Amino acid sequence: MTKKILYGLMLLMSFAVAAYATIAYAVFPLGSLVHPDMRINFENHRIAVYLHIFASSLALLIGPFQFSKRLRASRPMLHRHLGKVYLGFGVALGGLSGLLMAVFAYGGLGSNLGFGILAVLWLFTGARAYWAIRRGDVIDHQRWMIRNFSLTLAAVTLRIYLPLSMVFGWPFELCYPIISWLCWVPNLLIAEWIFNRPLSV
Ligand code: HEM
Repeated sequence: MTKKILYGLMLLMSFAVAAYATIAYAVFPLGSLVHPDMRINFENHRIAVYLHIFASSLALLIGPFQFSKRLRASRPMLHRHLGKVYLGFGVALGGLSGLLMAVFAYGGLGSNLGFGILAVLWLFTGARAYWAIRRGDVIDHQRWMIRNFSLTLAAVTLRIYLPLSMVFGWPFELCYPIISWLCWVPNLLIAEWIFNRPLSV
């Protein structure tokens, strides 16, 4: 029961952030919704930014369905096709463009490393999940996918911590580098310690 509630919550939050990002970046001028100090960087790297947002949003949209036991059992081919889009387009393109964006991320070395390591781990866990399933190791595939999607959810946790830091009135330039780590390290630890066992959703 608790797992079902958590699954529903994850689905809802993933959709909300993917919808927000897609609509915001498709409708509003680039950089209009980020901190003014980040705007110039975004304008100078338009392709990387758009690629990152649309590819990563697709990963957020597809990811939750891949964990549904029912869907995997009833539509195994759909799981395979969606998995290829999730990894080949969402994670690969979203991660590579995210890595590039990490180089010019706002907040200095702290943010460069926080987002940079997140990008490398996102790509690495995705590759490991793919290699595992190619050699037919379903359990290993699940374990790496749980790690991988916990990192995809960094997009959700980031958008919880950022407004929270603003509510508390903490300075953005101080909070942003911290949040670039906080948005994914706890996710990965939770995935590892609580959820990383055979699925029963
Ligand atoms: C998990 C791997 C990810 C990495 C490494 C990553 C990295 C980054 C970096 C470095 C930035 C720029 C920050 C700056 O310039 O200061 C950024 C911004 C952004 N990312 Fe990601 N990201 C990831 C996942 C996602 C996902 C899954 C989404 C899906 C919605 C997403 C959506 C965005 C958006 C919309 C922005 C623009 C800033 C904003 O509007 O809040 N990212 N990301």
